[in-house]
Amino acid sequence: MRQKKYKLIDKRLITEGSQIDFNLFLPNETKSAMSLFLQSDTSVDGNAKVKLREIEMLYVSEEEEAQYNAYVARHLQSIARNDEIPTEQKARLVYEKATEAIDSMFKNPESLENVKNVQPVVNNFIEIILHDSSAVESLMKITAHDYYTHTHSINVSIYTLSLGSFLGISGKDLEVLGMAAILHDLGKSRIDYEIINKNGKLTDEEFAQMKHHPAYGHEIALKLGITDERILTGIRHHHEKMCGGGYPDNLKGDQISQFARIIGTCDVFDALSTKRSYKDPMSSFESLLLMKQQMSDHLDMGMVDAFIRMLRKQVEGKQ
Ligand SMILES: [Fe+2]
Repeated sequence: MRQKKYKLIDKRLITEGSQIDFNLFLPNETKSAMSLFLQSDTSVDGNAKVKLREIEMLYVSEEEEAQYNAYVARHLQSIARNDEIPTEQKARLVYEKATEAIDSMFKNPESLENVKNVQPVVNNFIEIILHDSSAVESLMKITAHDYYTHTHSINVSIYTLSLGSFLGISGKDLEVLGMAAILHDLGKSRIDYEIINKNGKLTDEEFAQMKHHPAYGHEIALKLGITDERILTGIRHHHEKMCGGGYPDNLKGDQISQFARIIGTCDVFDALSTKRSYKDPMSSFESLLLMKQQMSDHLDMGMVDAFIRMLRKQVEGKQ
């Protein structure tokens, strides 16, 4: 008979009041075998939580790992609120789940279902960013250093939510801002794969094609039934420039919505601070310095200054 295999899990991720649909195991006293701790299809009551505090190692069988992962995804919001779990671990979990949701969205961007699955991702980010002052720093450590459209979308939404919250945007408005940020490059799903993943700088012809992505994204969002102007303009206008000359509508200054200006700033920051095939990543400090010194025609300097103040506050908060 094949020996059953087990996976060690973090007991803090088992949420009180939840229902588990997998078995939980403990090693027996001699550590020679596993014994059942909590059976599948039971709810984790106060009693079980007290017992959990006393034990050290908790396992699920490898056969039920998928159920366990789905459980963690379902309870991510309460996990994100749990102070007992270290910020780094929460940040990593939320980031991992976000990557899965965004991967599916880019595979089939015109499915309403996939886009709906992105809202909980945004809410989880909001939960840890607002709940924990060191969350942005932890998230910044794990943001992918290689540039891919899906990880870029997540990184931009993290920066956008932190900056938006720093600017005093809250509640439903912050949720809308997060959605606009995570969807901002949705139109890239209609650009040739070779152009999106080219190893090197784009030719003029390729860049001309690439420039269609904000308008494509806007079109897809309309098709999905998104009506909130702040999301629509956030997607369409994230490459507009303060002094004009951006695309697709060649807007200027206040013609560019506040959400598009926030997203545009965070978009540039992530593009500079991640690695590309033709350039090394810049540090956060170097990226912000370049934005401040060389991009006053392009970016809203009020946003760049707020970004700098926000990061400074994080560093000072730690001291
Ligand atoms: Fe873009």
